[in-house]
Amino acid sequence: MKKKIIVTGGAGYIGSHTCVELIASNYEPIIIDNFYNSKHFIIDRIEEITGFRPDILDTNCLNYEQLRLKISSYNNINGIIHFAAYKAVGESTQKPLKYYQNNIGSTINMLKILEDFKFSSFIFSSSCTVYGQPKQLPVTEESPILLAESPYGRTKQICEDVISDYSKANSTLKAVSLRYFNPIGAHPSSLIGELPLGAPNNLVPFITQTAAGIRKELSIFGHDYSTSDGTCIRDYIHVVDLARAHVAALKFSEAKKNGLFEIFNLGSGQGNSVLEVVQAFEEICEEKLNYKFSPRRPGDVVEVYANVEKAKNEMGWETKLSLKDALKDAWNWELALRKNLITNE
Ligand code: WQD
Repeated sequence: MKKKIIVTGGAGYIGSHTCVELIASNYEPIIIDNFYNSKHFIIDRIEEITGFRPDILDTNCLNYEQLRLKISSYNNINGIIHFAAYKAVGESTQKPLKYYQNNIGSTINMLKILEDFKFSSFIFSSSCTVYGQPKQLPVTEESPILLAESPYGRTKQICEDVISDYSKANSTLKAVSLRYFNPIGAHPSSLIGELPLGAPNNLVPFITQTAAGIRKELSIFGHDYSTSDGTCIRDYIHVVDLARAHVAALKFSEAKKNGLFEIFNLGSGQGNSVLEVVQAFEEICEEKLNYKFSPRRPGDVVEVYANVEKAKNEMGWETKLSLKDALKDAWNWELALRKNLITNE
């Protein structure tokens, strides 16, 4: 019988790509999603890509009793990959209580589920925002955790502390926290990808929507930073590489005999400026992108990119896809969305 894995937020951007890679690695994902920030058609697309349709538990991770009831009908569940969280940095500063309650409450509930059903693996979706503006680059997992720039980033730091403390009290827990840098791109089939609700906060979906004529022009936030071209530098990672890292993390945790709590940076290990991303995109779609320079965005760090040696040495994982691969797949996904007239609104 195939191992089952609970994937909270499994209909979301990174969650759906991870389900595809889990199925390809002979796992059966069980998706918990309340579709607050995802669409039901993504489940059909996962089935179309893989030939397997995951079970869906349409439940809010804050609803512990309902979670427990629905999960009790399964056996052979090996662990949990916990994506479900609110993730809009800007919104988190406007509505901090919503972010603290949801992101921390859902993590605590999933750990309680893990304990109730004696699952062992817990893979947590974290973020490089826990580092703030690192003093040294590339940033390693031992780099100091600076006060996060937003309540969103703070919830990720607090959740890591909750998991760490719980792992000290529960020697059977095999927990891994994955600190994502900047996930971009889409599945090469153009059947799944990012579905920002409303105007995108993130750079790449704003670029593709501008190129598709949905947005008038891209604002590049800041052109006077202390970088080679004055724009911020980030570590962009293809979402399919990121999804594959979750399978590697699951196998890593399953292979361990005793309890653990390990943290891994997931990035390409390379930094690219906003202008470099724009120029790479223009080369791919062979047209000029309409953009202007605007004031800096509050909360942006100037430069952050990952040291990815630990994931390579301990999990045998590294990125295989390039920035251009990701931008091409992001653009093809945008074109497919427009063709199918699927709106993100
Ligand atoms: C990248 C760069 C912007 C939009 C955030 C979260 C992080 C993770 C990824 C959840 C910055 C610039 C952007 C635009 C721009 N999310 N930019 N014009 O802020 O690095 O990371 O998203 O896990 O946790 O913090 O990503 O794509 O928003 O910005 O100039 O319209 O692009 O200023 O320099 P960010 P981003």
